[in-house]
Amino acid sequence: MAATEPVGIVGLDVDDAQAVMMLSTEAGWNQNEADWRFFLSRGAVFGMRNGARLVATAALLPYSAGNAWISMVLVTADFRRRGIATKLVDACLNAAARRGLTTWLDATPDGAAVYGPLGFEPTLQLRRLRLTKPQDTGTIPSLSDGNLDALAARDAGAMGFDRSTLLAEFSARSGSRIVSGDRAMALIRDGRTARHIGPLLADRADQALALVDAIVRSETGPWLIDAVYSQEEFLSGLVALGWTIERPFQRMRFGPAAISPVQPPFAVAGPEFG
Ligand SMILES: CC(C)(COP(=O)(O)OP(=O)(O)OC[C@H]1O[C@@H](n2cnc3c(N)ncnc32)[C@H](O)[C@@H]1OP(=O)(O)O)[C@@H](O)C(=O)NCCC(=O)NCCS
Repeated sequence: MAATEPVGIVGLDVDDAQAVMMLSTEAGWNQNEADWRFFLSRGAVFGMRNGARLVATAALLPYSAGNAWISMVLVTADFRRRGIATKLVDACLNAAARRGLTTWLDATPDGAAVYGPLGFEPTLQLRRLRLTKPQDTGTIPSLSDGNLDALAARDAGAMGFDRSTLLAEFSARSGSRIVSGDRAMALIRDGRTARHIGPLLADRADQALALVDAIVRSETGPWLIDAVYSQEEFLSGLVALGWTIERPFQRMRFGPAAISPVQPPFAVAGPEFG
């Protein structure tokens, strides 16, 4: 038990970028400082301190059309099971309610245990997969540069709301690429420990798989992808290509569903961004 209990919830800003990074790194997560800077500058990030030490965070990231994402819910190991995550998620929900936002999140199994009792309802499921070394599958499928406007338009169809601000920020980072193949399109970006593929939009699973195959054979990994579980052919195709499933995420929603996505993506932008 720590000598001093954390007191009160504080708002965090970009000056806290290194302190928040320590929490996501402790959890083994893939976020880098650019990810955190996006939350700290575009969202509302709440934290709790124990003296000068930041011990917990939670972020609310407003999108468009009355939707927002809650993420980066992190409590350092020696402060868990004292209700801190519950208080911080409550702070996010209150901030969302003040702005009339429906909130979404992609929960780890531990996180889902916190959010269920708060009133979040499960929607779709994801699987996080990792690839260290691509298999040689013969001919490398074609890979072309994609276009931000086209990616944002397809992403909006899949999500049910526009995320062009997020996708523009991702694509402007030095390690990012937008790539396309046969009716498939994806964004690739750097993470702390692995390159991340997503969002990935395509008409069919074979097109999505060919694009992933082309990506992983065009540069060095390791790679992470967050596949939509209901895209069964895509998921089993990734496993056949040597990807391993690391963990599940449960998408959950708090508040009314005000959107109607046209077609689910094959892979999302990441559980922290949806
Ligand atoms: C998940 C996490 C944020 C929970 O933080 P916390 O401050 O310990 O959560 P709380 O104390 O508010 O928990 C509230 C309730 O949720 C449930 N709960 C929390 N952690 C749990 C766990 N590991 N297993 C089962 N139930 C859990 C319990 O019912 C708990 O109430 P109780 O302690 O009275 O039994 C923390 O364990 C963590 O940082 N984990 C690693 C990162 C992570 O997975 N974050 C969630 C991302 S979606």
